[in-house]
Amino acid sequence: MNQIAVIKIGGSLISEGEYINVLNDIKNSGLQNIILVHGGGNEVSKMQKALGKEPVFVTSPEGIRSRYTDLETLEIFNMVMRNIGTKIASHLNSLGFKAINISGVDASFIKAERKKKLIIIDEKGRRRVIEGGYTGRIKEVDESFLKNLLNLGLIPVVSPIASGYEGEILNVDGDRGASAIARSVGASKLIIFTNVEGVIIDGKVLDKLSLSEAKETLKKVGPGMDKKLLACIEAVENGVEIGLIASGKKDKPVEAALKGIGTKVVKE
Ligand SMILES: Nc1ncnc2c1ncn2[C@@H]1O[C@H](COP(=O)(O)OP(=O)(O)OP(=O)(O)O)[C@@H](O)[C@H]1O
Ligand SMILES: [Mg+2]
Repeated sequence: MNQIAVIKIGGSLISEGEYINVLNDIKNSGLQNIILVHGGGNEVSKMQKALGKEPVFVTSPEGIRSRYTDLETLEIFNMVMRNIGTKIASHLNSLGFKAINISGVDASFIKAERKKKLIIIDEKGRRRVIEGGYTGRIKEVDESFLKNLLNLGLIPVVSPIASGYEGEILNVDGDRGASAIARSVGASKLIIFTNVEGVIIDGKVLDKLSLSEAKETLKKVGPGMDKKLLACIEAVENGVEIGLIASGKKDKPVEAALKGIGTKVVKE
């Protein structure tokens, strides 16, 4: 099979409708063998609020902030994410592609372990152990399932939901999910589109980082970007040639990304 590109479309681009421009530019780019992964955190929060449920976020000791997913939140998460996946697939299909929205629950192609307990840092800065809810740590991706879809000429549009080992449906992080998929199928590129030009340190967008530079930089980046940089590191450590974090908020975002505009993580 020709080279595979895994493209993640950030939640911020979904809320602002800018994902349509990214999808149109995928068409212009002539890229083949694409797997799309999407986010949608803001949309999930909006729906939670509309349903009268205040979103809750927790912070890990490493400083990573994530949504607390109780059963009701999980149902809203699944509903909103699959709706986004359907909209992306529908737009790709209107461009002449054959796209299919799937989540990791379909054929259990993404298996994750439920985090039964979470260690969090509370408002007072104290460490606490709480019930884990329905978030998962990705353990396995069925690469042959994805490759079979690609061989059928389909574009998989993956919603960030996984299948738990006890039959649970689990919320998984989209950036880490895209990275796990890129690794498993042996993608040549992982492109993470978001609402900024890349990793910004001291007001400057970083251009190219080796794995060791990327790991150093990780200590200095804030919430949101931390998971993207980590996703790129994990991908490149496991054989993906390049992890790119790039802006999806420009005229030709895919063309720019293919020229390498944004922050690139490479082996050395
Ligand atoms: N050092 C940094 N450089 C650039 N952005 C940073 C940095 N630290 C924190 N950020 C924040 O990270 C954000 C991007 O992460 P965020 O999770 O919001 O992205 P997203 O594209 O909406 O994706 P998703 O919701 O799918 O994870 C930026 O908008 C920025 O506010
Ligand atoms: Mg995020």
